[in-house]
Amino acid sequence: MCGIVGYIGNKQAYPILIKGLHRLEYRGYDSSGVALINDKNEINVYKTKGKVEDLEKYASDKDLSGTIGIAHTRWATHGEPNDSNAHPHYSQSKSLAIIHNGIIENYAIIKKDLIKRGYEFKSDTDTEVLVQLIEHIKEKNNVDLTKAVQLALTQAVGAYAIAVIEKGNPNQIVAARKASPLVIGVGDDEFFLASDATPFVEYTKKVIYLNDEEIATITRNDEVHIRTISDVEKTPELKEIEMSLNELEKGGFPHFMLKEIHEQPKRIAEAMRGRININHDNVALSGIIDNKDKFLNAKRIIIVACGTSWHAGLIGEYLLEEFTRIPVEVEYASEFRYRNPIINKDDIVIAISQSGETADTLAAVELARKKGAFVYGICNVIGSSIPRNTDSGTYTHVGPEIGVASTKAFTAQVTVLALISLTIANMKGSLDKKRYKELIDELATIPAKMEETLKTNENIQKIAPIFTYAKNFIYLGRGYNYPVALEGALKLKEISYIHAEGYPAAEMKHGPIALIDAEMPVVFIAPHKGMYEKTLSNIEEVKARKGRIFSIVTKGDNVVSKVSDYSIEIPETEECFVPLLATIPLQLLAYHIAIMKGCNVDQPRNLAKSVTVE
Ligand code: F6R
Repeated sequence: MCGIVGYIGNKQAYPILIKGLHRLEYRGYDSSGVALINDKNEINVYKTKGKVEDLEKYASDKDLSGTIGIAHTRWATHGEPNDSNAHPHYSQSKSLAIIHNGIIENYAIIKKDLIKRGYEFKSDTDTEVLVQLIEHIKEKNNVDLTKAVQLALTQAVGAYAIAVIEKGNPNQIVAARKASPLVIGVGDDEFFLASDATPFVEYTKKVIYLNDEEIATITRNDEVHIRTISDVEKTPELKEIEMSLNELEKGGFPHFMLKEIHEQPKRIAEAMRGRININHDNVALSGIIDNKDKFLNAKRIIIVACGTSWHAGLIGEYLLEEFTRIPVEVEYASEFRYRNPIINKDDIVIAISQSGETADTLAAVELARKKGAFVYGICNVIGSSIPRNTDSGTYTHVGPEIGVASTKAFTAQVTVLALISLTIANMKGSLDKKRYKELIDELATIPAKMEETLKTNENIQKIAPIFTYAKNFIYLGRGYNYPVALEGALKLKEISYIHAEGYPAAEMKHGPIALIDAEMPVVFIAPHKGMYEKTLSNIEEVKARKGRIFSIVTKGDNVVSKVSDYSIEIPETEECFVPLLATIPLQLLAYHIAIMKGCNVDQPRNLAKSVTVE
């Protein structure tokens, strides 16, 4: 949540910062701003409510000079989205400007004390409190900016990634992090900093990931110096990232979401590459094999995640229990972390997260490790906090996901969970060799079958306008397709703002059936495999009450499709892999309904991609 970006070097900072903000807009987009130190060594702050393009309009006639600056795109936590709550924030004397991603939880106490000392506040934010505190400490103790930041942060409780610049000091940015992401890009005679590497990939691939409670002093034409809040000097570790610029562009699609939906065949093939052997008789994930004893002795697996990643976790429960026979529990990370869960040494906790930064999932990881569990991560963003805080893990390798609604990350998480289940099953001998090979053979066909599934796009686009009237939707599926129903409903509500609920189809009779009338669209995931006949009975029950049925069926089906008002065919596959195909038409349905309703699908209201606050 919130995107931060900074630059110091030989180039004009403003264009780099603005481009960087556009790339980080997926993290929050209710207001944005920039602070630059101009040639007279003064700080100019420009900020406004709205998107980054509103900031560009607002700043167009201002002094935008300067080769050092910081910028921010906001997802409001404390204080409504308006001009004064937008970042950057000045300190009282305007000698400092700060940007911040996170929450300073004890801001009210600090604010009260600063007010007593004569400080005045122009915003309702916790961030302004922090910059005033830094200024106060700096003046009182007569220390440099780094020391003042360090002392201020010893008083701050909460999460932060911050960057601070100082009037009259055009050669330095001081940055710090705790539980919010921050990465420094190291170029030739220039430095960048940002919430992730996307703002600067065209300038440098060399990065330093700041760790929790570390402060970086980034000085023009010098090295990055890092100290911890408790004043221990650290040696910066330079890493190389793999990311290309065209991964950050729409590639001819009108929206990132549509691009990412269409990327799934290629991305899923990449997620399997090098992990399934050529003969399809072995799946090898190094993270599992290197920790063979842990997985062979595991008494229980607990999956923790949020949102779409939690839905992937539910499918993981079906996969892992079916193939490995290890009991699995799936928990919302936000509940798990606060309910004093029972975790034993021979439990394995799997944390699933696209961003690798979700605050609740990260906290669940920390709790599980503290209690002695072996913690495994399934993440997409390389170098993010969860992979750096887990014992081992597997990357999904689907490239940056920029559309706020998760699509390709979900199918990749399910793919990785299938690979994990097959790897453990083979180690344990819980699956006979013939079946193991059949499953691998089938999994390897999924990218081609996804390609075929994407051909339903045109048809779905035609059907979508019919449903724009709807205020509610119900999504129903059984077994492996129950989590698919949840995911389909989530996609629809988050981007089209239509209320939607997913249920196990058989649960419908226990309440939701009361909602069904001629106005209610009901989406059924009803492939031939699994509980086909039972799902068919549920469809008949909806039909009898005049619900409008949209079904996902196996190619060639002429029973469910006859009862349905609209049906979309997907290729036949193993029951356990149906979610990898059936999710795609549901992503497309949500996308086209949202487009017909004129919604911003890439940046839906109130949402942000990376939920770094709890
Ligand atoms: C929905 C969506 C969210 C995320 C959730 C967890 O489309 O994207 O529900 O799945 O915020 O995020 P990660 O996977 O980054 O931990």
